[in-house]
Amino acid sequence: MPATTRTIFHVDLDAFFVAVERVRDPSLNGKPVIIGGLGPRGVVATASYEARKFGVRSAQPMAIARRRCPQAVFMRGDHDLYREYSVNFREVLDRYSPDVSAVSIDEAYMDMTGSDRLFGPPVKVAEEIRTKISGELGITASIGIGPNKLVAKVATEDAKPDGVFMVAGGDEAAYFAPRPVRDMPGIGPKAAGALTTLGIERLGQLAEHPVGPLRRILGPNHALGIQERARGIDRSPVMERAKTKSISAETTFAEDVDDTTELATVMRRLSARVGARLRKAGLYARGVSIKLRYPDFTTVTRQVTLPAPTDADAVFVEASKSLMDRTLAERAGPVRLLGVGLTGLGERAAQLSLLDHDGVRESAISSAMDRIRDRFGEGAVRRGS
Ligand code: TTP
Ligand code: MG
Repeated sequence: MPATTRTIFHVDLDAFFVAVERVRDPSLNGKPVIIGGLGPRGVVATASYEARKFGVRSAQPMAIARRRCPQAVFMRGDHDLYREYSVNFREVLDRYSPDVSAVSIDEAYMDMTGSDRLFGPPVKVAEEIRTKISGELGITASIGIGPNKLVAKVATEDAKPDGVFMVAGGDEAAYFAPRPVRDMPGIGPKAAGALTTLGIERLGQLAEHPVGPLRRILGPNHALGIQERARGIDRSPVMERAKTKSISAETTFAEDVDDTTELATVMRRLSARVGARLRKAGLYARGVSIKLRYPDFTTVTRQVTLPAPTDADAVFVEASKSLMDRTLAERAGPVRLLGVGLTGLGERAAQLSLLDHDGVRESAISSAMDRIRDRFGEGAVRRGS
């Protein structure tokens, strides 16, 4: 059970580039306006809502846009100016939360959990933010509110243009259920087509479907996570932690070691140590690397990409051991130094949804072992193989 219900805002400016052009030139108000590359291979960056009625869309070839809406005003746009607006937009949001994360030039998430006492109910605060943006920048924003980023982002679609839409915590599954599967970020046309073959059109059906056949379509490691998301569950934080690029540990032996059993023991201990640090940081790893130095200071490093991101010791132990075995098969010891590193680190919450059952169980086991180690020291537990 989540400890607290969060309140997340997803803020997105309406027809952003067009809105800025309209501040500069109000005669564009009410007209279809299309901004993008004007050359023969140009694509549409954005279109005003008046032009969208004719089927003009972002990322469409400009040639098609011209055919669909020849009466529009076509412009190349001024990206330096848009960036200035983007900075000012961000500056408004920063007044309302310390946890703001921009995801594109005109879009940001805000963690507003517990802000009621300071600013009032979420919808009122959202309206205040929108008023500030339109007052100071002269352009409109829409805000989706939900118990997490995923729901807030989808809610913004219902808020647009120039509005607020709130999904209360607890309502997310019911809110998602009737929506087409394509509404969920991450489900593209291919996956949606494959889901249709199972009779799945809506997110509610996706959430209820037996996971077995979904594994074949969505991938064995993704199916469960996607089903959670189809229920509106998303644990990812608004603020990503400072990027830790890798976690490693190594040891130089007092005397060079030749005995493979002893080397394996040391490798296992080093792997468990980096695993514990990884879990403390709330991260998952995508790769394992080892370092092995011989008495003549020749140093060999090897790495492997894991089949799925994980924080499970058993996986790290296995990977580092087999990397070491392969290295020693090419050149046997004695060995002067051993090291192990975890690479491709990412947020635990973001990657958890990608894990299958076994991965989840494995990581629960590792966490339990961490707790015991914290209490009794490193030698206290060792996993049976
Ligand atoms: P969006 O927020 O996707 O679009 P928008 O702000 O124009 O319209 P709305 O949010 O109301 O649906 O993108 C923000 C800006 O980013 C957009 O004004 C132009 C630019 N952009 C591109 O240059 N290429 C693209 O493919 C997209 C999607 C956006
Ligand atoms: Mg926008």
